[in-house]
Amino acid sequence: MAEEESVKVAVRVRPFNKREKARNSTLIVEMKGATTVLNDPSGENDPKRFTFDYSYWSHDSFKEEASGYLAPAKPHYADQNMVFKDVGMGVLANAWEGYNCSLFAYGQTGSGKSWSIVGYGPNKGIVPLFCDKLFVQIGEKTAGGETASFEVEFSMLEIYNEQVRDLLNPASKRKGGLKVRQHPKLGFYADGLKTVAVSSYQDIENRMEEGTKNRTVAATNMNATSSRAHTIVGIKFTQKYQNAAGEETAKSSVINLVDLAGSERAESTGATGDRLKEGAAINQSLSSLGNVISALVDKANGKKVRVPYRDSTLTKLLKNALGGNSKTIMIAAISPADINYDETLSTLRYADRAKQIKTKVAVNEDPTEKLIRELQEENEKLKKLLESGGIPTKLDDDSDDEDEEDVKSLSKDERERIRKEMEEEMQARILASQQEMEEMKKTWEEKMKQSHESGPVVPDAGAARKEKETTPHLYNLNVDPQLTGMIVHLLKPGEHLVGSSNEESGETPCILLKGLNIQPHHAALIVEGGKVYLDRCQTSPDAKIMVNGQPLTEKEELDHNDRILFGANHLYIFADPKQAGGKKSPAMTYEEAQAEINQNSGFVVGKPDSLGGSSLDELILQDDLVEVLPAIEQANTMSEEMDKKVKFEVAIIPAKKMGIVGSETEPPQRRPPEVMVKMRNVELGLEYLWTKAKFMNRKYLMDEMYESFSDGEDINWPDERDPFTEPPDHEEMIGALHIYLESIAYKIEAKEQLDLTNIKGIEVGKLNVELWPCTQTGKVLRDEDAFVDDPETDLKGQPIAFKVKILNARGLPDRFVDIYCKFKVYTMEPYQTQVIKKAINPDFKFEQLISFNAVDKLELDYLLNGSIFVQLFGKQVPKKREGKKLNTKQIMKKEGMLKGKDIGAENVPKHTVDEGKVGYQFQVLTLKKRLERLEKKMAQMNRVVDVAEKSSKMRVKTDTIKTVLRAKNPDAIEKAIKTIPKDKGAGDNEGVNGQPQSQESAACTLL
Ligand SMILES: Nc1ncnc2c1ncn2[C@@H]1O[C@H](COP(=O)(O)OP(=O)(O)OP(=O)(O)O)[C@@H](O)[C@H]1O
Ligand SMILES: [Mg+2]
Repeated sequence: MAEEESVKVAVRVRPFNKREKARNSTLIVEMKGATTVLNDPSGENDPKRFTFDYSYWSHDSFKEEASGYLAPAKPHYADQNMVFKDVGMGVLANAWEGYNCSLFAYGQTGSGKSWSIVGYGPNKGIVPLFCDKLFVQIGEKTAGGETASFEVEFSMLEIYNEQVRDLLNPASKRKGGLKVRQHPKLGFYADGLKTVAVSSYQDIENRMEEGTKNRTVAATNMNATSSRAHTIVGIKFTQKYQNAAGEETAKSSVINLVDLAGSERAESTGATGDRLKEGAAINQSLSSLGNVISALVDKANGKKVRVPYRDSTLTKLLKNALGGNSKTIMIAAISPADINYDETLSTLRYADRAKQIKTKVAVNEDPTEKLIRELQEENEKLKKLLESGGIPTKLDDDSDDEDEEDVKSLSKDERERIRKEMEEEMQARILASQQEMEEMKKTWEEKMKQSHESGPVVPDAGAARKEKETTPHLYNLNVDPQLTGMIVHLLKPGEHLVGSSNEESGETPCILLKGLNIQPHHAALIVEGGKVYLDRCQTSPDAKIMVNGQPLTEKEELDHNDRILFGANHLYIFADPKQAGGKKSPAMTYEEAQAEINQNSGFVVGKPDSLGGSSLDELILQDDLVEVLPAIEQANTMSEEMDKKVKFEVAIIPAKKMGIVGSETEPPQRRPPEVMVKMRNVELGLEYLWTKAKFMNRKYLMDEMYESFSDGEDINWPDERDPFTEPPDHEEMIGALHIYLESIAYKIEAKEQLDLTNIKGIEVGKLNVELWPCTQTGKVLRDEDAFVDDPETDLKGQPIAFKVKILNARGLPDRFVDIYCKFKVYTMEPYQTQVIKKAINPDFKFEQLISFNAVDKLELDYLLNGSIFVQLFGKQVPKKREGKKLNTKQIMKKEGMLKGKDIGAENVPKHTVDEGKVGYQFQVLTLKKRLERLEKKMAQMNRVVDVAEKSSKMRVKTDTIKTVLRAKNPDAIEKAIKTIPKDKGAGDNEGVNGQPQSQESAACTLL
């Protein structure tokens, strides 16, 4: 009987990581009972409250035991055991009852998904604890005289880039990965996935290690971004016994433990705005999962909707877990830090939706005979269908799958194609049913034997671990800490060749590496006399080898904890237990080792934090470089190897240059410099500046392309899929500048020719602009009409208007067409000039009247200190290359781009451009004008004195002086001056018989 059950949701917050600590992050998560509160660090939004089934506080209040286990120091700390007790034990109890169970971990990269699901070292996660407990309970039951037999089977797969990889069988790597098929009885399954029988916890641990190792090897060889992979550990637990009727019965439970890829949203990964088709669907599986959850929530709320399981590999494989027969738990892993507010909020919202989903659970308990019979019947049906040769329009009676194609409207060829596909699908189903039946008939002993014969890759993980303790070895560093240390090469006495397999000679080196820049004879490790040396191979003098961030020039003895880089991305630590002498000296992390390499390539940005800290900006910059520089180097190597005619360079942009339309009204925030990437097509002379996020996304697609290339496939991909191109209509910012408004606050006109600078601060042309004070109707004010002495008092509450004129640009780079300017004033909608087709000196002849009705404090501040940020955009036209065609490497060589280093340190601006220059330019202009006005006034005042003296007046009326100083109308001034000689009260030079001067009007004495 199927019962409805809600998906259970747990939330867990981890401690600050190193990076968050270095940045002095603040804690924005609170947990009170079942409520989790997320505070907005900017204070703009109210705190957000969420309630979940379980809330786990793993942020602080723990102590590290000698074993390394993090145990509670205060009761509210949730350690691994506590999480397992709630979540893991629940899954276990369900498994015994014969329910399918699924456990997901969701959250951004580094939020603690793997920590909860798999765990680290002594802090074992749910998977190992679950497996351990399962075998303990089996042991107890058996010892207690239980007659049922128990079978546990294990599988492990990874979804990367929509392809399924069998982590227990990497050799099976076939093009496109394992096929995901659907079976009416068995649901969606990965065809050909290796499932092994396991009889102890140790078996499972070995298998997990084997799977993780295969994952690491694949990720390193393909320089894949491991946080973009989903890992699914599958455990099938079957209890076999005779039911009351004496029939052989199987109660089975399929348990899926899913460690999802990092959930960074499209905006923050820079996928939005990239027109490259795949850019948006970078993690098809994760976005489909979101859509499936939404649809399921709608369904739970009574709406009739189609659930798009078929949209991705992940949602197909998890169909049961999400909407079918499974008890499902989701763990939302979150960071505690302010810098991750947006991601954390998105994770909590996701989890909040997931808890509304209801699944229909039923115990899987059936006589084996019945199961076999059903499968047989299914096969008979399929065989008949096949013989009749007709194409079924629908293979399944599944209300969620309504996207079958309409067969009638298809062309003959398409119909034939579908017929073939269907035929293949049916054959596969028949085979799957047959295999399933055979499996059911097999005894446990047979299964175990088979698993042993298929043999794990790590024959005896335990023995290997022991050997590591006494033998010098290399172990890998990976950006994902879960994959660090997974590859170990023991260095026994003798010579060990490091390199790729050599197709010509058929020889395989001792330490086999694959991927970018790896030569067949890349390096040699020599172990003699208790020492280990690293040397170059004579046949590959160009092979890239670095030790502790320095290129290896000659044979060098290695020290404990030395960092070694082979090629573009094989990073290792050398460990020598003898040298370490039993002492634990921590080796560098991946980030630190990478920072060391960057530093030695000329990117000196403070010291790595392991060496004693540096400023916050430097730390952030360093984090970005650690991510980007190795990727740039890999991208350049790929470009060369695939001849993509593209060269990437890092560009460090001072934060102020990033002025994004819309932000100019806010005070400039203290922001670190931005790391961007310049993509240059060296053949066509095109240049594009990408954000770091966009580049990293593109890099993911480049890796995919490179993999196809390495597999010998055609890589003539259409432009809209090629990560090395930009669409021809892509707009690039040519340059930008600020027009300061201070002169307007004094109602003074400004005419300027301003430097247009590109984002790196280099001048790319001039822009002629003007600002004209006007009336609200657009009539330009003459200087005398517009009299503002002190904007604070003269402008407040008054209307003000002015014209912005963008006349033309001069001397722009000649590769641009369709040029226009865009700018934004205060909070108004952006304005745009006309688009000029092609010109190096485009005339925009643009003018726009801007008016404020009654200037308030903020607006006044904007006028006095703010600016209009103008950006010039255009599209690039490819240059025509003459002469003979060169390949990427030749072009680069010709242009001197290959000089020694792969990443040019010359790309770091030597000096930052004087940002204030344009501001001063305007200020000087305004000051000049104000000075002119003051001088004019002084001249008028001198006339007042002259006139008064001439007509022998001792005093001049304040009214007269006021008019002279403040009147906007010259006639009024003239009139006022003319009144001086006639003024009776002003007193004549002779005085009135020495009597004190009259005070009848407040008067001023002229001296
Ligand atoms: N509860 C915790 N207690 C202590 N350390 C933790 C905890 N959760 C996570 N960490 C640490 O944070 C780091 C990132 O965690 P983890 O590898 O689990 O992230 P992830 O979500 O799996 O990331 P990815 O998406 O990249 O796989 C690891 O170094 C891990 O040791
Ligand atoms: Mg992980």
